[in-house]
Amino acid sequence: MKTFNKPKEMQAYRKTITKSVGFVPTMGALHEGHISLIKQSVEENETTIVSIFVNPTQFLEGEDLESYPSKIEADLKICELAGVDAVFLPTAKTMYESDELRITAPKIKGFILEGAKRPGHFDGVLQVVLKLFNITSPTKAYFGKKDAQQLFMIENMVKHLFLPIMIVPCEIVREGDGLALSSRNVYLSAKEREIALFLSKSLKYATKQIIEGERDTAKIKAMMEEVLSATELEYVEIVDREFNLLKEVEIGDSILLVAARVGTTRLIDNMWV
Ligand code: PAJ
Repeated sequence: MKTFNKPKEMQAYRKTITKSVGFVPTMGALHEGHISLIKQSVEENETTIVSIFVNPTQFLEGEDLESYPSKIEADLKICELAGVDAVFLPTAKTMYESDELRITAPKIKGFILEGAKRPGHFDGVLQVVLKLFNITSPTKAYFGKKDAQQLFMIENMVKHLFLPIMIVPCEIVREGDGLALSSRNVYLSAKEREIALFLSKSLKYATKQIIEGERDTAKIKAMMEEVLSATELEYVEIVDREFNLLKEVEIGDSILLVAARVGTTRLIDNMWV
């Protein structure tokens, strides 16, 4: 397995590959969620490139940029065992100029929900993902449904900018008890982890109501809010796959979304119904 730090070196390696390239961008501290994306890419492509970069431009002031979990040695081992061909490990210095053009997320869909709670976050995500796409020129790029709005933003960027890349949405990987895997779960104490379970519980409960025939999103959201009362809830929302807010659940076209703080840890989860 090869590793590259400099964008130019990564690009030079990419030029030597003529067959399909799968790309999995990550911020490291790899867990089973990341691994499932990597495995799918390895299965579907001749060559797989993984990037590990804690991108500063997508963190807001006061967020966990400085303390974001890191375990590079273990991450490289995981990539090697999963059959990754190359890992790109750039630094902020090699990725950014001090004064450069900026990407701005769409004004409406980029500034609701996650974008409202974290204004500017998606600008930073799109900026780095576009750079990473240009450096790795992937045939397919793999993103988790766990970050549903991020996935939607990236699918839109590819569409709006006519990028010749296929975005592959990947299922959410959960612990046995339902907690969605996240690099930030390591911040949770045992007690907080119990409370964190209310996110997936609220989604399961809402799904059950929907299966039993409930369609009114106001009622479903109210039920979810009740389940989430032990958390510091940021939002519960039900949207269609284009991120339009829904009054009625549309089976096959809806996403239930939740964001909440447990202690100092911010968690998100969702369910596609
Ligand atoms: P990161 O949080 O490291 O996530 C990398 C990829 O793993 C994302 O596509 C995310 O949706 C996916 N992922 C995380 N947890 C998952 C889970 N439990 N199940 C399935 N997939 C999961 O998302 C980012 O990094 C960054 O914003 C990035 C796209 C790399 C840009 O900096």
